[in-house]
Amino acid sequence: MNMMVRVGIAQMHPQVGDVNKNLKHLGEMLKEATALRVDVLVLPELANSGYAFESEEEVTRCAEEIPDGPYSIKLSEWSNSERLIVAGICEKSGDHIYNSAGIFANGEHVGSYRKIHLFNREKEWFSAGMDEPPVISHLGHQYGIMVCWDWAFPEVARILALKGAQVILHPANLVLAYCQDAMRTRSIENGVFTATANRVGMERNLAFSGKSQITDNRAKVLLSLSEEDVGVGIIEIDPLAADEKNLTKRNHVLEDRKPELYQRLIEGS
Ligand code: ACM
Repeated sequence: MNMMVRVGIAQMHPQVGDVNKNLKHLGEMLKEATALRVDVLVLPELANSGYAFESEEEVTRCAEEIPDGPYSIKLSEWSNSERLIVAGICEKSGDHIYNSAGIFANGEHVGSYRKIHLFNREKEWFSAGMDEPPVISHLGHQYGIMVCWDWAFPEVARILALKGAQVILHPANLVLAYCQDAMRTRSIENGVFTATANRVGMERNLAFSGKSQITDNRAKVLLSLSEEDVGVGIIEIDPLAADEKNLTKRNHVLEDRKPELYQRLIEGS
């Protein structure tokens, strides 16, 4: 049985405030991913809404419920026939708006993750998620989910690895230059594959940096997209390779930890 998985990253150009345009853009990306026979697809953060909001009214108008909103429905439909898709969604739930990742597989909503580390002005618009990032089992493989700025908190990728993630799927809207290198580090210190889907373009003087990237489980960059092109990049991986956690015969990246000496990590600042 072929256990190779065709992982795709969609580098996109959403428009802040224009949900109809973003929905149409999604359709183009899904068409491209279908033609490339992608099995697992990652879209950028806040792909349904854009990023650089100007007012609470604008965020609220762009937000949708998961899984009943129009963007979620399209994602769910695409995930039919054994596909997995993760996309950043501006999510409305009760009185709260979250910067979320919606996760869909086999034509169903299989999970959500509400970003726990909010970046800069996101703190004005979103409630922070209160739940641990999830690991989703799909066709015998384990996929961990985190969103953008979570890259700056190694605890997130570590928790995903401890929960069994073999591949980290990472919707992003990057504005700083450090994430791609940091994700290589997240990869080597946890022995996992990583797939970061970033966006491109400018919104209200904020420039997004592209360079969406897939690494293997030993920090090697398998795929790196350009700074400005829109489109789907794909690479074939064997997620089971991430079960090998020994960097040398005597160095296992998870079993060699010394949690009894890490008390400071769980204290508040
Ligand atoms: C970010 O978390 N969008 C930088």
